[in-house]
Amino acid sequence: MAMGVVLLGYGAIGRAVHRSLAEHQEDVEVLRIVDRAVLEGGAQNAATALGDAIAGAQLVIECASPAAVRSYGPGIIGSGSHLLVASLGALVDPQLAQCLLHDGPGRCYLSTGAIGGLDLIRATAATIEQITLCTRKAPLALLHPGLPEHLRSLLAGLRPEHGPEQVLSGSVADAIKLFPSNINVAAALGLAAGNMALVRVQIIADPTARRTTHSINVQTSSGKYSFEISNLPDPANPATSALTARSMVSGVLRLAGRGPHFI
Ligand SMILES: NC(=O)c1ccc[n+]([C@@H]2O[C@H](COP(=O)([O-])OP(=O)(O)OC[C@H]3O[C@@H](n4cnc5c(N)ncnc54)[C@H](O)[C@@H]3O)[C@@H](O)[C@H]2O)c1
Repeated sequence: MAMGVVLLGYGAIGRAVHRSLAEHQEDVEVLRIVDRAVLEGGAQNAATALGDAIAGAQLVIECASPAAVRSYGPGIIGSGSHLLVASLGALVDPQLAQCLLHDGPGRCYLSTGAIGGLDLIRATAATIEQITLCTRKAPLALLHPGLPEHLRSLLAGLRPEHGPEQVLSGSVADAIKLFPSNINVAAALGLAAGNMALVRVQIIADPTARRTTHSINVQTSSGKYSFEISNLPDPANPATSALTARSMVSGVLRLAGRGPHFI
């Protein structure tokens, strides 16, 4: 029998996941698509609206926002449905992470999203000394309304002749404050390592970049690992890599029992 899923969030990732899952109807049935209008627009109270939205779902596929994970994640897990999270930045909050990852009865799965190599980082977590992440993106993919004015005008005015500009060097917490929508990869690394404090983040705005590149270096007491992941942006949202939706579909199919399984 196909696994019943609900899509929470129907933007760039949600639409791409929906399109791909249509090719796997024998394994996965999309029961409902839930966006803001469904959860916030009705006359019902929030808990009833969420209960109706996820009724019968074995898995809720979150591709909405960190705020949606905060608002609905605990209720989804508490209802016994499983949750696959794209907006990993939400789990930088240790209380929310504790609730989602440990409370149950539903299970919380974390999407590998825009990168790979998290299995290796998880496996070596006890020996990790430091992880560095350098993300290089087109300036427009970094712009958002909450940026301080000086950074907003710097990003909006960057032209190819100006060359790349470092716009952040710091901790995951520093990155969340300035670039909350670009923190998923840093959060994924911290969650895999079991300690956000091990991750140092650098963000470079590169006006010549056509791809988003994540250069990841992992220093452990037993080895050194480097990954470079260079993704084309999703045409529907330049801040999101096209790989993210594919990673989510791959994860959903794996949860539906489709192999091969690398563990
Ligand atoms: N894990 C990763 O590597 C990775 C990579 C890229 C994006 N993401 C995250 O995935 C999420 C979705 O990305 P996207 O590019 O599809 O974004 P998007 O802006 O294109 O779409 C988001 C959709 O979710 C809906 N939404 C937002 N908040 C909601 C809420 N509280 N309740 C209900 N619906 C809500 C919006 O209305 C919109 O339709 C973002 O949080 C993004 O940061 C994760």
